[in-house]
Amino acid sequence: MKAAFLQFAPQYLEVEANLDYVAGLLEGADADLIVLPELFTSGYFFKSKDDLAAVAESVPDGPTTRRFEAWARATGATYVAGLPERDGEAVYNSAVVVSSEGFVGTYRKVHLFYEEKTLFAPGDRGFRVFDVQDRVGNAYRLGVMICFDWYFPEAARSLALQGADIIAHPANLVRKDCPRAMPIRALENHVFTVTANRTGQESNGREMLTFIGKSEICDPVGEILLRADRTGDHLGLAEIDPLTARDRQITAHNHLFGDRRPDSYALQ
Ligand code: ACM
Repeated sequence: MKAAFLQFAPQYLEVEANLDYVAGLLEGADADLIVLPELFTSGYFFKSKDDLAAVAESVPDGPTTRRFEAWARATGATYVAGLPERDGEAVYNSAVVVSSEGFVGTYRKVHLFYEEKTLFAPGDRGFRVFDVQDRVGNAYRLGVMICFDWYFPEAARSLALQGADIIAHPANLVRKDCPRAMPIRALENHVFTVTANRTGQESNGREMLTFIGKSEICDPVGEILLRADRTGDHLGLAEIDPLTARDRQITAHNHLFGDRRPDSYALQ
């Protein structure tokens, strides 16, 4: 199957324009799985809670999820895309998973970064793995984490332990370390990873953030199959076989999960 990231620079608060721009970039894309950046509909560095409230939407009955449902029906692809999700009084930094069969599920970011802590509610459902299919009906398991979750190895491990073959990783990275870390997350869990980062700059009126691009796809032995530049739009595609992630034998005597010793670990 073909896995893809879409890297671009969302416009702040311009939901319709961002959706239209993405539709143009994805026109004719030949991919089974397409991962978009974190908060791709809205931009990232909110100037106020009112700005965030103006662009937060409910899932799955909000306009973005509905639009992805239509795209997925037309293309057969599965999409993972970050957006601000409204649920009652709370707003979550979420990613929706949508396939040709419709809305699949949502992940709400667990590890909030920097001023996100003043704006979003922390994810309340843990790390989740979804059963999806490629365009010819081969099933695989898709885990989702968002951006700063990379800093916590427990996130990718939780997804791998639940059987993820691929980890989709919508991101708005500002720290330079993540592109070096994701091959390790992939290797230590024997999973594919697809990081879709954004580019460009945003100011919240007090401070400027520069997003580092470098979206990438890594394989279960930690090789970088594809990495985008720091700037520029990029639809990056790699041919992968997700089921190769299921071989977690390290040597004839060692198994990645079988050799774990949770009784020896400090988990709290
Ligand atoms: C981040 O979590 N957006 C850095």
